Amino acid sequence: MILVTGGAGFIGANFVLDWLAEQQEGVVNLDKLTYAGNLETLATLKDVKAHVFVRGDIGDSALVDKLLAEHQPRAVVNFAAESHVDRSIHGPEDFVQTNVVGTFRLLESVRGYWNGLPADRKAAFRFLHVSTDEVYGSLKTGEPAFTEETKYEPNSPYSASKAASDHLVRAWHHTYGLPVLTTNCSNNYGPYHFPEKLIPLMIVNALAGKPLPVYGDGMQVRDWLYVKDHCSAIRRVLEAGRLGETYNVGGWNEKPNIEIVRTVCALLDELKPRADGKPYSEQIAYVVDRPGHDRRYAIDARKLERELGWKPEETFETGIRKTVEWYLANGEWVRNVQSGAYREWVQKHYASSAGKGAA
Ligand code: NAD
Ligand code: TYD
Repeated sequence: MILVTGGAGFIGANFVLDWLAEQQEGVVNLDKLTYAGNLETLATLKDVKAHVFVRGDIGDSALVDKLLAEHQPRAVVNFAAESHVDRSIHGPEDFVQTNVVGTFRLLESVRGYWNGLPADRKAAFRFLHVSTDEVYGSLKTGEPAFTEETKYEPNSPYSASKAASDHLVRAWHHTYGLPVLTTNCSNNYGPYHFPEKLIPLMIVNALAGKPLPVYGDGMQVRDWLYVKDHCSAIRRVLEAGRLGETYNVGGWNEKPNIEIVRTVCALLDELKPRADGKPYSEQIAYVVDRPGHDRRYAIDARKLERELGWKPEETFETGIRKTVEWYLANGEWVRNVQSGAYREWVQKHYASSAGKGAA
């Protein structure tokens, strides 16, 4: 049995679905079900006995202690977090609560449990913390990609809170000997991605005939990895990663945002042309930039390849096509996540960054 936290979110749910499809080992899935948690993503697991879903907070020590004692997991994989940069700018408090205080409490519960294990299970235990490349800050054009040695320079409330959580995880290893592993991954995309993030937002807005809001000049660069490849990297690090080490995860897919948006538009032109025959790119609208917007992220994932033999399976071209096809085939999932809370966010956020004009 493993304990996964945040397993009803985008990456956590993909991880749980893939894990249960590939391994013989059960999953206890602890998720608070914030706006980003979605049980519908896990609907196919409804009758699967190897999946135990528990609604709760990683910061609820009594609950986490009880789950650990009851299920005796051999590993914890921590996905639970507040994850959206724009939301962290509007309201950083939840980010500090979950990403910093929550991770601290989770570490303490896990430390107590781990200390009580018999020697062989204690030695085999792992705590894998899922983090982001955003902790390294922003790169200038031409600067080499982030390695595991790059110093932390987080710039947003989100990345600062994730950096803090990484430091706690590191310290719990250094001070208490907790057997931890940390992964720092680049931007993910793929099925079940909440449509507040760039790629799914562009797909759902395009199909709804709405503007495609590109921040600033659209030339900010992100390094994109298909979510299933992130999940395979986590499984590999969990299996063979060296204790206390961090591993950068990425697919060498640096692209400016405007290129991503144009690629999505071109795929939709091919797969679901607009009724009026015009290209979806006509809906592109440049809007006011994100405050403190990091210009460029890029991940050097050679350590993971060298030490653990991991490589992504998808190229950006194959992954983005699968993603657009998934959204076209899963309109109901999209409609159901576009709840009142979602509409409220879109209204609040994009009303304050009024359009600068169409492309
Ligand atoms: P997400 O926002 O889609 O999902 C987060 C999940 O955590 C949700 O299901 C939510 O309900 C749950 N959660 C939030 N607070 C919780 C709490 N206090 N206790 C228990 N559950 C809680 O995020 P995601 O994109 O799936 O990201 C998962 C992890 O991967 C995060 O730690 C994030 O920092 C990291 N990460 C994300 C990306 C990316 O591109 N999305 C890239 C690198 C790393
Ligand atoms: P996002 O998906 O929020 O991920 P992150 O900020 O964690 O990298 O954004 C990806 C990039 O797309 C980022 O540079 C901000 C930009 N972006 C837009 O241009 N318009 C949007 O509406 C959103 C949500 C993001």
